[in-house]
Amino acid sequence: MKRREFLLGSAAFALNVTKAMAGMTMSGSNMAGMNMSGAASKSTKRIRKLPVGAPLSGLAKLVNQSNAPAVFEATIEAGIASHEFVPGMATQVLAYNGSVPGTMIEVFEGDHVKIAFKNRIPDQASTIHWHGLEVPADQDGNPTNPVASGSDRIYEFTIPEGSAGSYWYHPHPHGQTSEQVYRGLAAPFIVRSKNDPLPTELGDTVLFISSVSLNADGTIAENTAADLMNGREGDHVLVNGSKQPVLTLPPGSSHRFRIYNATNGHFLRLSLDGHSMTLVGTDGGLITAPIKGFKELLLAPAERAEIIVDFQSKVGPVTLSGKAYERGWMGGNKPPAMTTSLMTFNLAGPVVQPVTLPEKLRDIVPLGEPTARHRIEFSENMGMTKDAMTMDFLIDGKSFDMNRVDLKARVGEVALWEIFNNSDMDHPFHIHGTQFQIVEREKNGSKTVAPFLAWKDTVNITAKETVRIKLRHSMPGLRVYHCHILEHEDQGMMGTLDVI
Ligand code: C2O
Ligand code: CU
Ligand code: CU
Repeated sequence: MKRREFLLGSAAFALNVTKAMAGMTMSGSNMAGMNMSGAASKSTKRIRKLPVGAPLSGLAKLVNQSNAPAVFEATIEAGIASHEFVPGMATQVLAYNGSVPGTMIEVFEGDHVKIAFKNRIPDQASTIHWHGLEVPADQDGNPTNPVASGSDRIYEFTIPEGSAGSYWYHPHPHGQTSEQVYRGLAAPFIVRSKNDPLPTELGDTVLFISSVSLNADGTIAENTAADLMNGREGDHVLVNGSKQPVLTLPPGSSHRFRIYNATNGHFLRLSLDGHSMTLVGTDGGLITAPIKGFKELLLAPAERAEIIVDFQSKVGPVTLSGKAYERGWMGGNKPPAMTTSLMTFNLAGPVVQPVTLPEKLRDIVPLGEPTARHRIEFSENMGMTKDAMTMDFLIDGKSFDMNRVDLKARVGEVALWEIFNNSDMDHPFHIHGTQFQIVEREKNGSKTVAPFLAWKDTVNITAKETVRIKLRHSMPGLRVYHCHILEHEDQGMMGTLDVI
């Protein structure tokens, strides 16, 4: 039975990763010569082609069940659903309310949100984590608060004023986050402001980027050893659930996009066929003023950007592509360095006038002098047994333990965090329950001060780089911070912060 197969598949991955890694045997003396078995060998026959060129889909919305003002109430059920990536071929996915990507939430600042969560994923605990939002620790779907398979819980929180931005939600059960996300559980969570400074003529289009790998029989491929090591880069990058969709817009128009990197392990180095992009927002909402002239924009896993594009007045296609990015690949099966098309904007119809942007978007108050300091270090540790290899992804030399407190903080204090990536690949750092401000980056002895103020919840840290950030938690409770390559997070690259 289908269902059984699915469960077995999950169980195979749930076995601890060291075992999966032990399936990799060394042949020859370098890692590129690695001969993989186990999960990897099952995945050799893949679907290499998906239909392209369909009109960009809108995302299914989560309907508000409440009539009360400033209240958003809904039910989210996570469970097995059938989805057609290939027409006529059913793929069993995990879906929020049956939809992949999941149902998009749209609320206003100040709204009270009450979500009834039903975990209908067979045999696996889950949670809903509200990525980037400042919600009470016990409502944030942390791995410390799993919801057992078949059971329900309520998540309830109030959206803070001033937090308008592009957030998202996804599962966070320890050890199974990566799998539940790559099988389909992730969705945007948009917080709107009642006084958005950007003109409505710009439109507002969400581009939710995920990826999928499909076996020849239509099932979702399990993580290979290379995926576990580097973070899963699915074979097909999808925008709002489909491959290389097309959005038709008038030539000369200015348009607003909220771009999400909701993949487990792709680094999206976005470019727009020579068009330049104007940055207006980051993970935690608008920046203080539009910044023009971006020829490319790197979004590491979990990062978001809000941009305005002024399209040229000549008709024709403009491609949004992901350029090759050197993220420090480990082992064999390195994907070829090439530019991939993500989607196309088709400029057609009468030419329209560009929209003038306001000079100022909002105030961001700098976090000020820190009164606490933390230093953490990301590292990888390669181990070898007689004929197999193991890999650990660590923070401060330790693997995640939810019963251990790694760092402590006080409510309201401003802390300077120094995060050193003492490894050979990029790792995007993320922390729960707050947004931070990047202070500076340091690499090979040279420092670069953050070029502008912005609210962020995820920051990429390249190999051997140090990033300094300032942050403040306004609510008590246990939070986690981790690498947002979800395979690394599952393999222990996560720590705990107790805010008192
Ligand atoms: Cu996107 Cu710990 O989360
Ligand atoms: Cu998060
Ligand atoms: Cu990582």
